[in-house]
Amino acid sequence: MSKYLITGGAGFIGSNLSRSLLNKGHKVIVIDDLSTGFLENIKDFEADKNFKFYLDSVMNFEILDKIIPQIDAIFHLAAAVGVEYVINNPLKSIEINVKGTENVLQLANKYKKKVLITSTSEIYGKNEKDSLSEEDDRVLGTTTINRWSYSNTKALDEFLGLAYFNVKKLPLVIVRLFNTTGPGQVGDYGMVVPRFIKQALLNKTITVYGDGKQTRCFTHIDDVIIALIEVMGNKKCEGQIFNIGNPQEVSINDLAKKIIKITNSSSKIINIPYENVMGQNFEDMKRRVPNIEKINSFIGWSPKFDLKKIIDDILIYLKNGE
Ligand SMILES: NC(=O)c1ccc[n+]([C@@H]2O[C@H](COP(=O)([O-])OP(=O)(O)OC[C@H]3O[C@@H](n4cnc5c(N)ncnc54)[C@H](O)[C@@H]3O)[C@@H](O)[C@H]2O)c1
Repeated sequence: MSKYLITGGAGFIGSNLSRSLLNKGHKVIVIDDLSTGFLENIKDFEADKNFKFYLDSVMNFEILDKIIPQIDAIFHLAAAVGVEYVINNPLKSIEINVKGTENVLQLANKYKKKVLITSTSEIYGKNEKDSLSEEDDRVLGTTTINRWSYSNTKALDEFLGLAYFNVKKLPLVIVRLFNTTGPGQVGDYGMVVPRFIKQALLNKTITVYGDGKQTRCFTHIDDVIIALIEVMGNKKCEGQIFNIGNPQEVSINDLAKKIIKITNSSSKIINIPYENVMGQNFEDMKRRVPNIEKINSFIGWSPKFDLKKIIDDILIYLKNGE
């Protein structure tokens, strides 16, 4: 039995990770400022004696300094998340994603606790090659295009993490998540699958940003949780970066059509120019497909669930009243 700190543990991924670790008999402490997370996400296990929740920020160095000596390892998930959120909160996003991670790493190093950093496929920027590997180039737009700040703050987290690993020998692993989705994710911050499903269920127009020919790859939350726990538990993975994603590619237009079909909805699809939603000066990438050979060769992981299963599971969750 181990004791974990999950920063951002009231968020979508963090709350699913908390539940899974508690089910395995571990203890979990969560620190979350509820900026994009919800108490609702942790209500099922809030009263569990192996669970403790701190409503606080990773910007609060003193509180982290009290918590980190008590735990064995840290899943660092707290961040400003989602392209729309980052565009609307440019300063706060940079502060949290850089300073918050610095606080966590500094104290993890002080008490020599292992850390898993959740980075993102945004790292690859506009690199649209067939299958993105961990060593591939980052292709980014200019600094006046705000969306790229998210990519850069997470890249700085990776540099910082690798520097702590190499210079201070801090045990650490970095994962780059590709569009993780599933039951419990909210559509409010630009997460496309839950947004489309909610529109389809209400027979409202499905709003596709851009021409909809851009493709994305979606990974089921349950697949991601398995990968996070296994990567954290494997000594061989220390000092490494891993893509975690599902290479199944779908265009956003086809995603909308698939959701309409599965939900039997009468929704129509409209394409909205990016600038109407994201403002002027927005850039998007045409595609982003993960290569997952590395994680497969280290821990034998590959995703089990496809897009249909993701949509079905979200529908079941919504039918059960969220
Ligand atoms: N969901 C995805 O597709 C995806 C893709 C790539 C990377 N990630 C990364 O995974 C992590 C978790 O993302 P998620 O999808 O669960 O998003 P989320 O928004 O549901 O979770 C992030 C959590 O961090 C919390 N948080 C934000 N600032 C904080 C602060 N200063 N102190 C404490 N808590 C704070 C939020 O309240 C929220 O609960 C993030 O680091 C994100 O960058 C997610």
